[in-house]
Amino acid sequence: MTALTLSTAAAAGLRADAIVIGVAKGAEGPVVAPGAEAVDKAYDGSLAGVLETLGAVGAEGEVTKLPAPAGFKAPLVVAVGLGTQPDEDAGFDAEALRRAAGVAARALTGAKKAAFALPLTDAADAGAVAEGVLLGAYSFDTYKDGGAGGKGARARNSKAPLAEAALLGGKPRDRVYKAAIERATAVAEELNRARDLINMPPNDLDPEAFAAIAQAAAKEHGVKVQVLDEKALVKGGYGGILGVGAGSAAGPRLVKLSYTSAKADKHLAFVGKGITYDSGGISLKPAGHNETMKCDMSGAAAVFAAVVAAARLGLEVNITGWLALAENMPSGSATRPGDVLRMYSGKTVEVLNTDAEGRLVLADALWAASEENPDAIVDVATLTGAMMLALGNRTFGIMANDEAFRSAVHEAAEEVGEPAWPMPLPEHLRKGMDSSTADIANMGERMGGGLVAGLFLREFVGEGITWAHLDIAGPAFNEGGPFGYTPKGGTGTAVRTLVRLAELTAAGDLG
Ligand code: BES
Ligand code: MN
Ligand code: ZN
Repeated sequence: MTALTLSTAAAAGLRADAIVIGVAKGAEGPVVAPGAEAVDKAYDGSLAGVLETLGAVGAEGEVTKLPAPAGFKAPLVVAVGLGTQPDEDAGFDAEALRRAAGVAARALTGAKKAAFALPLTDAADAGAVAEGVLLGAYSFDTYKDGGAGGKGARARNSKAPLAEAALLGGKPRDRVYKAAIERATAVAEELNRARDLINMPPNDLDPEAFAAIAQAAAKEHGVKVQVLDEKALVKGGYGGILGVGAGSAAGPRLVKLSYTSAKADKHLAFVGKGITYDSGGISLKPAGHNETMKCDMSGAAAVFAAVVAAARLGLEVNITGWLALAENMPSGSATRPGDVLRMYSGKTVEVLNTDAEGRLVLADALWAASEENPDAIVDVATLTGAMMLALGNRTFGIMANDEAFRSAVHEAAEEVGEPAWPMPLPEHLRKGMDSSTADIANMGERMGGGLVAGLFLREFVGEGITWAHLDIAGPAFNEGGPFGYTPKGGTGTAVRTLVRLAELTAAGDLG
């Protein structure tokens, strides 16, 4: 990952490939953002005019490259759009900075070093720019140029991400600034690790491989790991996870990650859907609907990343992460539509559609999480196509058994720049899942399918436990081009919301 430092160096003397500056959309054309005064001065104050000549308006996502002024050691200035110029006393909001930093970092792919002279008003802004750079510079090249063990010459068709970034305008010796950079680094590193897992092809990332990676990384950061393999799942009666994994040659796993702080008095549980590949099973998905289904473990990747990030930050809260890992495949041993599964909670489920598998693995993990009676449970899942239809592919849905908690999760998501929206759990949709054979069916009415799935999960949350469900099917995997600090492919959505929830809980500001 990009190496990041705070620097007090003057822009002119910096040995770098480029200086990044901000340009905002003013009422009468582009406006050079604070932080770039020295650069503007070196152009004799004509920088805004030069940018306008080059066609810049200051719009979000805009990149304008120009030769650096005489006397600068760096050869290039990269002016990145910040969007509408804020009112006089207001600074740029953190998300505008994060996105612009991400766009600039991506525009600098292949460069060794860049200095970022963006408008910083406080440590939180520095943290936002740091996050934007580290997340925007991400690229998944593991399999390019022959991959590991291949000839490995990256130069052939892929360029390395920006290697080094220096943030100007911050206070390198200030504790608060240092902490903001440390936080951004830990969160971005773990989030990028989640992206790597999501992008890994499913022939290399099966449940066993995922569990092994989680085990190694968690150990490194002082998180306790327990892996239930197939034998242990059978012994424990995890009928949901086993039922989904039954068709695959690669057996399912339930991974429990425990991070504890001596100073904690609250306990959160995060539960992630970890279908390493969702073919649909016997209810096979048609071609056109299965090419991106390696992303169906994005919830588990997010939970994993959030728990490790919380541990690295030493947050004063106990967190248990549950990764419900299985591969959903059709075969002679696969669960059939019509089968009844006895779940870990003891309830029976009639499987009417084997493609509604996420709720089955989550049901077992939610019940396991409930047994420890945490203060709250949050599950994260690429659960339904219906949620994508409802909210599009950048916004995740939030459902909960407690309205105040749903709002708290929504606020946390907004704070960190993750688009999300509250969704209801209408009681009348429950009866659509009535089964003539079992306690409940794994499918109900088609209309409101995302909410039906939420209602199903609710049945497997322990009595009296506060719970929220994030359906990230839309934003988990970006099939379009990169934007802001979001790359193509796995996005790592929900990681930052979970970390924020952990921070709020540690601070006693939640529940
Ligand atoms: N993993 C899918 C949901 C999904 C779809 C995620 C598209 C990301 C992109 C999930 O397991 C699924 O297949 N859901 C079904 C449920 C239905 C059979 C009740 C769906 O949404 O169609
Ligand atoms: Mn499915
Ligand atoms: Zn699925």
